Amino acid sequence: MCGIFGYLGEQDAVSLVLEGLKKLEYRGYDSAGVALIQNGELLSHKEVGKVSVLDAKIAEKGWKSGLAIAHTRWATHGKPTQINAHPQFDTASRCAVVHNGIIENHEAVRRLLQKRGVSFQSDTDTEVISQLIGFLNKGNFLRAVQRALPLLQGAFAIAVIHQDAPEEIICAAKESPLAIGVGEGEMFVASDAQAFLKYTRQAIYLHSSELALITKKGVQAFNARLAPIEKESENLDHDAEEVTKGAYQHYMLKEIYEQPQTLQNALLSRFSEEYGSAILDGLKLSEEELFKIKRIVILACGTSLHAGLTATYLFEEKARIPVEVEISSEFRYKNPIVQENTLAIAISQSGETADTLAAMRELKEKGAKIVGICNVQGSTLAREVDSCLFLRAGPEICVAATKTYTSQLIVLTLLSLRFARMHTMSQQEGKHLIKALQALPSQVKSILSQADKIERIAKKYAHYDNFFFLGRRYMYPTALEGALKLKEIAYINANGYPAGEMKHGPIALIHENCPTVAYCGDSVTYPKILSNLMEIKARSGKVLAIAPEGSKEIQGIADDVIYVPKTLDELSPIPATIVSQLLAYYIAKERGTEIDQPRNLAKSVTVE
Ligand code: M6R
Repeated sequence: MCGIFGYLGEQDAVSLVLEGLKKLEYRGYDSAGVALIQNGELLSHKEVGKVSVLDAKIAEKGWKSGLAIAHTRWATHGKPTQINAHPQFDTASRCAVVHNGIIENHEAVRRLLQKRGVSFQSDTDTEVISQLIGFLNKGNFLRAVQRALPLLQGAFAIAVIHQDAPEEIICAAKESPLAIGVGEGEMFVASDAQAFLKYTRQAIYLHSSELALITKKGVQAFNARLAPIEKESENLDHDAEEVTKGAYQHYMLKEIYEQPQTLQNALLSRFSEEYGSAILDGLKLSEEELFKIKRIVILACGTSLHAGLTATYLFEEKARIPVEVEISSEFRYKNPIVQENTLAIAISQSGETADTLAAMRELKEKGAKIVGICNVQGSTLAREVDSCLFLRAGPEICVAATKTYTSQLIVLTLLSLRFARMHTMSQQEGKHLIKALQALPSQVKSILSQADKIERIAKKYAHYDNFFFLGRRYMYPTALEGALKLKEIAYINANGYPAGEMKHGPIALIHENCPTVAYCGDSVTYPKILSNLMEIKARSGKVLAIAPEGSKEIQGIADDVIYVPKTLDELSPIPATIVSQLLAYYIAKERGTEIDQPRNLAKSVTVE
């Protein structure tokens, strides 16, 4: 999970690839590097840290070239050091490689090359690619890359340049995204087409085991045996929107505040008030196919997984369709059974999460129809699923997901409404749900207007190093998500748990320095969570409750209460989550962590 950017043309390649890399930093930001060919010589520079660090160093060099490749790294093999940063080179430093993915058999290839006298400089799996290409190169650079590829196991996307071929970039992909941008007399390569959209909207995507030779004149793609193949370029229709923080200190805060609008966008034209049902144009399944669905499997990771867990309650209760939610990284190793009439829903904000893509492909192969729920048009997920429901949340820059999560909840609610109205739900109930959905944007606004109060409470709790986040029913995945936000951006150990399970073990951890954030928004389980909180209080645990307006009993139990507008149980995760997001944000701010790009994380997790 790294970002690759390459350029070949008449413009200043070095500044262009650095600009491109900045757009790819969401894929990793622990080190960065660039390689170029100037006057027939391969030059390069690498730095630990963000692209801005590299940029500052490169500016001093005054390099000029029409060809460069660059990389922003999220370390997998080897610490984030200058040596381990990409590009990686062959022994003669004539060939440079940037790579996204993992070479699973890197040890074996490394040993093989070492036995033949090759000595390695870095701890990376990537260096085996550059060394292998260097070793196999007998004067035909393209042939050397082609011969190297079948010896590499794993998933990868690479861009390679060679000093002896100063007008060429060679790229290859295997189960990792790589887009080639076709301009007028200039060509681009990027892990995500968004990064070159400012320059061209024509993109060619490499599929597994394909490689391409890029020159200023164009792209020639080849299959694994180096037979030329024709590839049509796609016209990308999404906007190259430049996103800034505006007046906000962090993207995260800006994205939290965008939610009244993003919720509205997710709902726009997607329901009929008259029929009390959802209208989902992106759903490319006939009425008959939808009606026949007997089982739903949801695949997702991280925050998207929490949206999926919330959906189990929605689909099972409202539509009476059995649902299994699967952690993508575990699912594919189960040898899953796919019965007839199974629908798979793959949820991924980025549409590039390798585990979710792999699990989705496994199900597709076994005959399931796949619906994607995704925020990024043109992403791998969006291109590979049978139907895609877009979140319409706009680019989310902060690594921690906020607005896309609440939009996922909206889209899943609409999808469950669509099924429910086919099976069990009356028109009246459907209308009631739609009314409640429509009220959400203004309810969220009213929570945002309490930000000062939430900040005061956050300051009071910011010094604790351990937390529990508890909820029941709809509030259980909400608690998991609240805990994840705090872990990610404030680096605090936060344990999300179903409140009823505390007495089966975890309550042993409760003491006066381990506070509990309690989600009390589910009316069915409200009396039960009150009892669970009493049990916490009886053990000197502090309680910060998030509860609907009008919940009186909680005041006598919790140390602090943040009230949110009342809504239906199935929508209650949204108001409660807005509070969790603000709470995590202000705690992280108080602790001085790097909120938008937390340590060790990346926005798109493109390795398994
Ligand atoms: O792009 P995806 O929704 O597939 O990403 C899945 C997770 O990596 C992601 O939700 C991660 O947990 C976020 N950083 C959460 O804030």
